Amino acid sequence: MADQEVYRGLKGVTVDVTEASFIDGEAGKLLYRGYNIHDLAEHSTFEETTYLLWHGKLPTRRELEHFDSQLRVSRTLPPEILEIIRLIKSAHPMDVLRTAVSALAAFDPDVNDNSFEANIRKGIRLTAQFPTIVAAHARIREGKEPVPPNPNLGHAANFLYMLHGKEPDEVSARALDVDLILHAEHGSNASAFSVRVTASTLADMHAAIVAGIGTLKGPLHGGAAEAVMAMVKEIGKPENAEAYVKKALAEGKRIMGFGHRVYKTEDPRARHLRKLAKEMGERMGQPEWYQILTKVEEAMAPLREKGIYVNVDFYSGSVYYLLGIPEDLFVPIFAMSRISGWVTQVLEQWKDNVIIRPLLKYVGPMDLPYVPIDQRVEAA
Ligand code: CMC
Repeated sequence: MADQEVYRGLKGVTVDVTEASFIDGEAGKLLYRGYNIHDLAEHSTFEETTYLLWHGKLPTRRELEHFDSQLRVSRTLPPEILEIIRLIKSAHPMDVLRTAVSALAAFDPDVNDNSFEANIRKGIRLTAQFPTIVAAHARIREGKEPVPPNPNLGHAANFLYMLHGKEPDEVSARALDVDLILHAEHGSNASAFSVRVTASTLADMHAAIVAGIGTLKGPLHGGAAEAVMAMVKEIGKPENAEAYVKKALAEGKRIMGFGHRVYKTEDPRARHLRKLAKEMGERMGQPEWYQILTKVEEAMAPLREKGIYVNVDFYSGSVYYLLGIPEDLFVPIFAMSRISGWVTQVLEQWKDNVIIRPLLKYVGPMDLPYVPIDQRVEAA
C-alpha cells in the first residue's frame, strides 16, 4: 500500500460515465445531452432544458406544456415549511433552503419510492418549490408576508414576482431564465458529486439534494458570484480595478470568478452573462458594474498563460444585482438552477448504481501501544 497513488481533490480522475453533459475544458465547449449551451441559452427555457436533462430529449410542444403545468401546480409549500422558515429566518438563505428541503421529505408522498417515475415527480416538486422557499424566506426576514406563486407566470418570472411582489418585465425574466439554463448542469462538479455519493448509498432523493445544497454553499463553488459582487463594490470605480487586482495577487489572494477545475480557457457560459451584464447595466443606467468587471478581467489577463480565465460566476453576480436580488440570495439562485442537474445525476446514478467509496492513503503512526488513561501525560 506504500506506493498507493494519491489524487488529491480527485483532480483528473474519471469516476463514471455520463450522458448528461459534455465539457471540453481546452476548447471551452459545453453540451447538455448533445446540445450546445449557446443554442440552449439563445433558444431554450429553463423548463425545456430541465426536461431535456431528465428525459434525454427535447420535448414536443405537448410534452413541454404538460411538464410546465406540473411545475406550476407544484410551487406551493406546505404551511409547516413556511412555519420552519419563520423559525429560522435569521439564518443564511442557503441554510434555510437546506433545512426546508430536508423537512420537505416528511411531506413528500414518494419519499421512499426510488422508481424513475417517482424520482421525476420528486424532481418536479423540488424544482418548483426551491424558488418558493428562497422568495418566502427573503420576504419573511424583512417582516413581509410571502407572495403566493402566480400560475400564470413561467418559472423565472414567477420567482422574481414572489421575491419583489410585482411582475417583472420580459427582459428581466428572460435574463434570469438564461442564467438558470447556464447553471443547470455541469458534470461532476463538487455539489453534483456529493449528490451522487449520497444517492449511491441508495438513500433517497431528498437526502441527495440536501447534500448538494450543503456542498454548493462554499465560496470555491456556488459562493463565488456573491464574492465577485462584494469585490466589485469594494473596487468602487473602474480606475481602481487594476491596482486592486495587482495588490490582491501580490498578497497571494484569489480573484473570485476566475479559474476552473476543468476549463483552461474561457468558460463558455460566461459569454452570455457578460452580454446580459452589459445590456442590463446600460438599460438600468448603472453601467459602472460592468465597466469595473471588464477592468478586472483586463488586469487578470497575465494569468491566462496559466489557464485562468473568467468562469460562469464572474458576470452573474452583477446580473442578479441589477435584478434587485440581495447578495446572499446569489447562491440559492445557483441552487434553484442546479437542482435540475442534481436530479439528472441522481437518475443517472441509479440507472446503474455502484456505491462511491474511494480510498485514503494512511500516513499516520502505526502500531502504537495503548496507554491507560491514568498513565497519560497532559501536554504542557
Ligand atoms: N485567482 C488567482 N489565482 C488563481 C485563481 C484565482 N481565481 N484560481 C486558481 N488560481 C491559481 C492558483 O493559485 C494556482 O496557482 P499556483 O499553481 O501558482 O499555485 C493555480 O491557479 C491552480 O489553482 P488550483 O487551486 O490548483 O486549481 P483548482 O482546479 O484546484 O481550483 C477553483 C479551481 C475554481 C477552485 C479555483 O480556480 C478558484 O479558487 N477560483 C476562485 C473561486 C471561483 O471563482 N469559483 C467558481 C468556480 S465556477 C462555478 C462553480 O463550479 O461553482
